[in-house]
Amino acid sequence: MKITKTTIYLVFLLGAFTALPILSFSAKSGGHYELSRFIPPDVCGGCHETIYAQWKNSMHHLAQRDAIYRAAAYYYLEGLTDRDEIIEAESCVKCHTPVGYFSGFPLKTSDEKNGKVPAIAVEGVQCDFCHSATGARALFNNNIIIDPGYGESKPGTKRGPRADAKSDYHESAYSKFHTGPEVCAVCHDVRHEVFGTKLETTYEEWLASPYNASKSGARVVCQDCHMYQAPGRPATGSTKRVKNPGSSAPDGPKRDHIFTHYFVGANTLIPGQYGDVEKPRMAEERLRNSAELVIDGAKAGEGLVTVTVKNTGAGHSLPTGLTDVRQMWLQLRVTDQSGAVLFQSGVPDASGYLPADSIVYNTVFGDGKGNPVENIAKAREVLKNRRIPAGGSLTERFNFSPPAGKKLTVEAKLLYMSASQKLIDRVAGKQSLRIPVVTMAEARLSL
Ligand code: HEC
Ligand code: HEC
Ligand code: HEC
Ligand code: HEC
Ligand code: HEC
Repeated sequence: MKITKTTIYLVFLLGAFTALPILSFSAKSGGHYELSRFIPPDVCGGCHETIYAQWKNSMHHLAQRDAIYRAAAYYYLEGLTDRDEIIEAESCVKCHTPVGYFSGFPLKTSDEKNGKVPAIAVEGVQCDFCHSATGARALFNNNIIIDPGYGESKPGTKRGPRADAKSDYHESAYSKFHTGPEVCAVCHDVRHEVFGTKLETTYEEWLASPYNASKSGARVVCQDCHMYQAPGRPATGSTKRVKNPGSSAPDGPKRDHIFTHYFVGANTLIPGQYGDVEKPRMAEERLRNSAELVIDGAKAGEGLVTVTVKNTGAGHSLPTGLTDVRQMWLQLRVTDQSGAVLFQSGVPDASGYLPADSIVYNTVFGDGKGNPVENIAKAREVLKNRRIPAGGSLTERFNFSPPAGKKLTVEAKLLYMSASQKLIDRVAGKQSLRIPVVTMAEARLSL
């Protein structure tokens, strides 16, 4: 081949193109930090004893161990052949095993499945990861920027809400990033790696909510609800968010509020599997202070009952997060004086499965051609997104004709399960695990 200027140019161009994916890979954070730079959480717990005890067995602590996460992640990987779908299915470790991902193992879900995850990475979303953060490149898919120290002997700077924190052990610095919703947004908005489909939108929902007010008194960020909660004090939008005075370390000063680290959402199952009795109870307290139901029987004479579901407690939609998996639904029963059921909706069968016509507040993803898909790796579109927005409500109409001359009782319940029993049975094996049902709100009316 005669080497001309054009061939040199072509070779150069080709080189530039093949170099592109490498460049864009290096712009990400996977594998860029020595594992030894991260300090195990129990070291932090040596001084921050209470915070450590709160965080232990939280969903952050258990994000990697979580049996439901792992069952789903490995199940979704099975049988994929499409390159773009595989990229998504391999990305779970970014948020669920962040110290592992940032230090190079596991970089992919299949590495996690087949290899041995380092002990510190098994500790999930942990102290040194969050407190090494300096900001974010983008507010989704864990595009966080971190600047960890160099292990226990050179711990570096821990960033947090205090401008006057002093520790003999580590440097401290005030970080605006930690006091706002952005530090949560990095992981709590999840997009498909290739298709961009919005898979989880908790932060986006909060942005659009009345809690995102500019006046400081009216503004309620993630931490105001989730880092004020303590046992018996649910700290939701419909309850008081009581301060937690104390000090965060034995030799630290007394402060009017120390941010709590239970990070409780709605998970009543996983912490209990690790012997934690407090967090499942706290999750129930949260769920029970999230919503209100109002039955309007005025139209009952016309054969209509309406039920309004109000989101009074959550700073995002109800439910939020993994809403393709969560099962929040409305149950209605109309009974007569003898207790006979004249009408019902949303009553599960003996296997725990809901009838197809039940009112479920959730998200359904599609394959791009209008067919529903269960595997988020295949999510090319959103087919359904019907949930209760923060501070908002939805009204449901039930049509039935009450027989004349009978006294009737209408009973409505808003119920929550972390996942539908059908999905659990398919992923984990039939009836291998029963998912607890929490009653979030109920209302009753006599006609
Ligand atoms: C950008 C961060 C991020 C990525 C990437 C991510 N997740 Fe998650 N995942 C979360 C957050 C945040 C929650 C908690 C939301 C909630 O509780 O509703 C969560 C919760 C879950 C849960 C619920 C666990 C339980 O016990 O109820 C499952 C299952 C799950 N993720 C599976 C996956 C799978 C599978 C992947 C990869 C295909 C993945 N996640 C990738 C952030 C992420
Ligand atoms: C030898 C005791 C000790 C250890 C070990 C320790 N800390 Fe601290 N830390 C302190 C003290 C004391 C303060 C100051 C508390 C105050 O002023 O309220 C502090 C403050 C902090 C703050 C607040 C910083 C700010 O400016 O707002 C963070 C965050 C923090 N520590 C994180 C960590 C993490 C993460 C670890 C583990 C890698 C850790 N600490 C280990 C003693 C310790
Ligand atoms: C998911 C991220 C995350 C994890 C994990 C986490 N923290 Fe924090 N922590 C925060 C945020 C955010 C704040 C500040 C909240 C604010 O200012 O609104 C904070 C505050 C603190 C403070 C200051 C408390 C105060 O009110 O003075 C200390 C100390 C601290 N964390 C230590 C720890 C320790 C120790 C662990 C592990 C046991 C830990 N954190 C785990 C995000 C995290
Ligand atoms: C590094 C990523 C990351 C950051 C940063 C992060 N989270 Fe999470 N968070 C997760 C993951 C992953 C889960 C889900 C673990 C699971 O279910 O397996 C989770 C779970 C939770 C849960 C429990 C959800 C449930 O179903 O009970 C709450 C509440 C929560 N996070 C709040 C916060 C708040 C508030 C912040 C900011 C202060 C924050 N998170 C920052 C990754 C993160
Ligand atoms: C006004 C109070 C409030 C604010 C602000 C708030 N939350 Fe929540 N959060 C709740 C309540 C109440 C629940 C329980 C009901 C539910 O599941 O939505 C909850 C549940 C959750 C869950 C578990 C959802 C599930 O069903 O698995 C996650 C994750 C979460 N919040 C994260 C966040 C993040 C991230 C932010 C900030 C962007 C935030 N929250 C802001 C009150 C709040």
